[in-house]
Amino acid sequence: MKKNVILTGIKPTGVPHIGNYLGMLRPAIKKANESTDESFFFIADYHALTTVKDAKLLRELTRQVACVWLACGLDPKKTVFYLQSQIKEIPELSTIFMNVCPKGLMDRAHAFKAAKQDGREINMGIYTYPILMSADILAYNTNFVPVGEDQKQHCEIAADIAKAFNAIYGQTLVIPKPDIIKQASLIEGLDGRKMSKSYNNAIPLFCSEAELLGYIKKIITDSSLPSDPKPTAHLIFKLFSHFAAAEQIKAFETAFKRGIGWGDAKQQLFEVMNEQIKPMREKYNYYMSHFEEVESILQDGAVRARLVASKTLDRVRGAVGI
Ligand code: TRP
Repeated sequence: MKKNVILTGIKPTGVPHIGNYLGMLRPAIKKANESTDESFFFIADYHALTTVKDAKLLRELTRQVACVWLACGLDPKKTVFYLQSQIKEIPELSTIFMNVCPKGLMDRAHAFKAAKQDGREINMGIYTYPILMSADILAYNTNFVPVGEDQKQHCEIAADIAKAFNAIYGQTLVIPKPDIIKQASLIEGLDGRKMSKSYNNAIPLFCSEAELLGYIKKIITDSSLPSDPKPTAHLIFKLFSHFAAAEQIKAFETAFKRGIGWGDAKQQLFEVMNEQIKPMREKYNYYMSHFEEVESILQDGAVRARLVASKTLDRVRGAVGI
């Protein structure tokens, strides 16, 4: 039986934080490692160009994101792991898909609408963002795209583009479906709003132990008591539950009900987080200082990715008459 293909990407536009880890990296990697599906995970560096305008910064963020994927447990033997910009077929597919994508679809896309609303610069990269993303997805005959709620609409646009293409040229492209990672929108930052680098409330995934503790100490607790109103509503408790085992969570809840001090609760949160992060942090530091190993993994991934993408491109070129 043909295996399902799952694919997802991360834009290297910032230093990965706990929200990215819990909302996307950890569940996507778990899915890839535990299933028999074929998986393609990549770094969307073309997409980052919409906002990152500094070559040195883009290179550094790309490097960090590559090391983060590997440190978090991506297995490059199992998952095809690559840099979007090394796949020459992607911009070619994107150019062709431009012609089957109605302008109205782009007018309704979230990334564009948000930029317009915030008065941010609108370049054609932002405007056509979902078309490039469609090329990313459709190139590998993807069935499922594990993403957070915020990328759902972009994935649906990829499905619309595939359907429009097939309607004109006959059955050529596989129709993908978003596979929504439920947690993604629920991870709060230090101030209780959604964890996001733009709110300046994020805890970086890989900082030193002392820094991690420092961030945890900054979590706003105001004057409420741990036992009031419900322990599970506190950010400290919620973060704890993302990292702890069931019995630990239960014990923590009891401690909250008994009125544990905030300082104590934060120390326990630090310990449970650090336990999971520590081995990954060590791997991350290793990869950052042995980047040639990461480069060779990415090269190998690009070769494997292009094997599939070039076949799709041949089919697409043939279908349109080029
Ligand atoms: N747009 C995604 C983000 O902002 C990154 C991305 C690019 C992506 N191409 C993709 C995600 C294809 C899933 C599938 O994080």
